[in-house]
Amino acid sequence: MSRIKKALERAKAQGILPEQQQEKTRPVRDEKPRGQIRPPLYFRTKVIDVPEEIFIRNKIVSVREGHPISDQFKLLRTRIFNLTRETGRNTIQVSGFDVGEGKSTVSLNLAISMAKDTRQTTLLVDADFRRPSIHCLLGLSNDTPGLKQYFEGQVELEDIFLNPGIDKLTILPAGGRIVNSTEVVGSAKMEALVLELKQRYLDRYIIFDTPGINVCPDPLVLLEYIDGLILVARSDVTTTDSIKAAVNLVPNGKLLGTVLNDSRWQDSTTYHERY
Ligand SMILES: Nc1ncnc2c1ncn2[C@@H]1O[C@H](COP(=O)(O)OP(=O)(O)OP(=O)(O)O)[C@@H](O)[C@H]1O
Ligand SMILES: [Mg+2]
Repeated sequence: MSRIKKALERAKAQGILPEQQQEKTRPVRDEKPRGQIRPPLYFRTKVIDVPEEIFIRNKIVSVREGHPISDQFKLLRTRIFNLTRETGRNTIQVSGFDVGEGKSTVSLNLAISMAKDTRQTTLLVDADFRRPSIHCLLGLSNDTPGLKQYFEGQVELEDIFLNPGIDKLTILPAGGRIVNSTEVVGSAKMEALVLELKQRYLDRYIIFDTPGINVCPDPLVLLEYIDGLILVARSDVTTTDSIKAAVNLVPNGKLLGTVLNDSRWQDSTTYHERY
């Protein structure tokens, strides 16, 4: 039995995989007509109207075509597609080294940029249960329900998906801080969720916003189920020692690349952004 199947069976046996998920766990690639993008089938996805000024105030410039930083995110998304498409690696974790490096800002900008590419849909999961912030970047309040309530069995997955008024982009908010976040991230329910999200639509990229690797064990625990990692460093903030310590902990083959955020200098080999 494959690892995916085992995890799903385990979650089912423990009664932690909702009925709807139990019915929808088979891959769908063969059923899709060629060249057609399958829209997300979460019928209860709530559409919220996020005004453009909220995005721009929160440095989410990917919403604006022609913005110079928006082009940088298109470059980043293209490099990720080139590294992953052929091999079907569609789960991408954004992490960093410490706090406040721009991980969430990069995650949301990247997710929007990917959703604007015509070839797939994108799901952004706020998997930072220490300092959840994707809902704030969308101008939503701290009581926005999300994965926390899902893990506590208070809501069904289908009830917490949001569409922030951008085509082909879905958001799964964190739902708040979780005290025992490492155990939750490492639980069979989380593993089954990641694998189910990955398998449900093979033409979708799933971005996970997570804490820094030197902050807590959560990102490395989650990385076990994820295909590829992007590490965000912040210019003049992230230290060399911090980078060395974190990179040594990343399993071979998982690191797709690094983003140098808030940089004031340019060369042709590094991705930069400063708003
Ligand atoms: N390139 C940038 N230029 C200017 N401000 C930025 C840039 N990137 C991020 N910021 C700002 O820095 C702050 C921290 O950004 P963000 O929340 O994305 O970081 P984070 O790494 O996710 O933080 P945390 O560790 O709390 O999860 C925010 O106020 C954000 O607007
Ligand atoms: Mg963050």
